[in-house]
Amino acid sequence: MKKILVIHGPNLDLLGQREQDIYGKVTLAEINAQLEKLAAQHQLSLTIVQSNHEGNIVDTIGQAKKNQFSAVLINPAAYTHTSIAIRDAISAVNLPTVEVHLSNIHAREDFRHMSLVAPVSCGQITGFGPHSYLLGLQAIIQLLNK
Ligand code: DQA
Repeated sequence: MKKILVIHGPNLDLLGQREQDIYGKVTLAEINAQLEKLAAQHQLSLTIVQSNHEGNIVDTIGQAKKNQFSAVLINPAAYTHTSIAIRDAISAVNLPTVEVHLSNIHAREDFRHMSLVAPVSCGQITGFGPHSYLLGLQAIIQLLNK
């Protein structure tokens, strides 16, 4: 069974209560349950991590190959726009990585338009609410079946 690492960045633990007009009412636990369901249908095993700490995320990505993950699904949240360290970790570990966002980062403030992670990812899915995660996992499934 292939293992996929799912990483939720800072403040995503607050989904459901945080800025509902932007991020909606669905909680992280509900998103994770939907991801688990899709993964089970494709005989994939998920390890899901949420962290508010850049270094934890860097460590988790850095160990992903050693921990035998086949791919990474990541919503780096605010670190998307700031973290060279997370970008470098993705580049260093060189696993297929898909970047997802609930909101459409290109339709928001200027500072959200730039993603440091996008150039080292296979692709970016942004703006479909919780469904972005499912589309992201589907993209990974396709990449792994290639
Ligand atoms: C986000 C978009 C980011 O700009 C923001 O900092 C987040 C969430 C999203 O999923 O839409 O925390 O990654």
